[in-house]
Amino acid sequence: MRAEPPLLRLEAVGHHFGGLTVLRSVSFDVPAGAIVGLIGPNGSGKTTLFNIVSGYIRPLAGSITYRGTPLERETIQQRSQAGLVRTFQTPQVFEQMTVLENVMVGCCKLTRTRMLQDLFRTPAARGQMKAIRDQAEAACERFRLASLRHQPAGSLTAGQRRILEIARAVVGRPSLLLLDEPSAGLNMQEIESLRDWIVRLNADGMTILLVSHDMGLMTVAHTVHTLYFGEIIASGSMSAIQRDPRVREVYLGV
Ligand SMILES: Nc1ncnc2c1ncn2[C@@H]1O[C@H](COP(=O)(O)OP(=O)(O)OP(=O)(O)O)[C@@H](O)[C@H]1O
Ligand SMILES: [Mg+2]
Repeated sequence: MRAEPPLLRLEAVGHHFGGLTVLRSVSFDVPAGAIVGLIGPNGSGKTTLFNIVSGYIRPLAGSITYRGTPLERETIQQRSQAGLVRTFQTPQVFEQMTVLENVMVGCCKLTRTRMLQDLFRTPAARGQMKAIRDQAEAACERFRLASLRHQPAGSLTAGQRRILEIARAVVGRPSLLLLDEPSAGLNMQEIESLRDWIVRLNADGMTILLVSHDMGLMTVAHTVHTLYFGEIIASGSMSAIQRDPRVREVYLGV
């Protein structure tokens, strides 16, 4: 019997910016249903790896497969439509649009321009719009954004923007969610909620690749990979990683 391919597979991925080598032969799998963590000091290449997986940057070496199919030629939109969705280290929200409209964009998995052109056009589109709105309203409730839903996203605090971005990312039920430093800018209570959401989304079947400097949050991950100057230097459970002498020396500073 043939084994199922992992949801995401990175094989010998390499990248450099000019003379600066940022990733050297990075290989790991993200199995379907897992929460996989990625840690590493500032500048170790975590966001660059996310940019490569989500299609913002083409890798200069190696290959990436998603559900066993090479991703190289897929655009950002095609990846998102295939269920591969990411959030950004600095939350990206549509400032002029309301919180609810921002979440609606996530339901459509389309670019803002395309969505605004298409919506309202035909009765069928208006019916679809109602369904999308209902779905977005429910997500606002779930992520405790309901009282803010008619406010422009530009008026939100850093923490609220972060939560809005996560709500917009998950409302379309991605298969693979990439979260880049999702707890940055959140208070303790918001981090607790974030942790609960990650666990719940995963229990509902969402596979998650998580980058975080927050070691408490990182304990949600089943497997953690440690990047150091673009190389994976240790992989395992968070507790094993925390005991690894090399990781302690280069990252945890102990
Ligand atoms: N577009 C770019 N052009 C040139 N250098 C870049 C570019 N993007 C990132 N870098 C450099 O690549 C290295 C890795 O950056 P990256 O943002 O991937 O690190 P990171 O692990 O996400 O760090 P942090 O924990 O601070 O978010 C850094 O030295 C950074 O300055
Ligand atoms: Mg980063």
